Amino acid sequence: MELNRKRRDFMRNAALAAAATFTPGMTFAQKADAVEDELERRLMLAQGMGMGGGTTEPPPMPEKPTITDFMRLRFYDAPDGGIRQNSHMLQSANLALKAGYDEKVVVACALHDTGHQIRRVDHGHWGSNLIEGYVDEEISWAIKYHQSLRFFPDPDYNYEYPEMYIRIFGEDYVPDEYQKAHHDYAKGHEWYHTARVITVNDVYGWDEDAVVDYEPIFELVAKHFRTPPEGLGFDNSHNAHFWRSIIWPNRPL
Ligand SMILES: [Fe+2]
Ligand SMILES: [Fe+2]
Repeated sequence: MELNRKRRDFMRNAALAAAATFTPGMTFAQKADAVEDELERRLMLAQGMGMGGGTTEPPPMPEKPTITDFMRLRFYDAPDGGIRQNSHMLQSANLALKAGYDEKVVVACALHDTGHQIRRVDHGHWGSNLIEGYVDEEISWAIKYHQSLRFFPDPDYNYEYPEMYIRIFGEDYVPDEYQKAHHDYAKGHEWYHTARVITVNDVYGWDEDAVVDYEPIFELVAKHFRTPPEGLGFDNSHNAHFWRSIIWPNRPL
């Protein structure tokens, strides 16, 4: 698949801006995260989120928040109280939906970078920890491993190493050893396809002018997600505190 020129320019400019922030000693994964940060920041700017994009107090949430509340008020929220329809995750899920992938793949794409709301480093692992127990294990597994798979090509899926990374890091990049180990493990796993397809749709989910019809995606996520009756964050699960951290990201105590 060819990236169109506009999208290619968008990614190139973001990659160059991110490269200017690199410091000596940064690992390959840290540089890649800096690039994704810049891409996300530019998407937010395109919908009027401001330069700080998310540094202000987020909107309050219901007492017993559902996964739909988290999508509406945290994952894809726009400054006017609506949905940020060019959100990177929504774009990825929309591409998967339009391409006719399995519902689980669409849900995985819709939630694949939620780990960013907790920590940048190892965002796939944080995102997986966030949703484990609430979705089919295949979905949380795939989100965990998309993080490492994105650095390795797979011709069977027409997944080439993203061109913006090659431009920044050169052809002779060497991903961290643990990322390679996770890739090698995932490649032989029965759920490899689901994780790999996240990376395929990931690459094309950066159109600043995208306007995604999000309702069908919300419906699919809600269908595959087991929201507890107490609300996410309040069911005393082993990962309930992850959800509370997203509800109150700035709470000091
Ligand atoms: Fe990601
Ligand atoms: Fe992503």
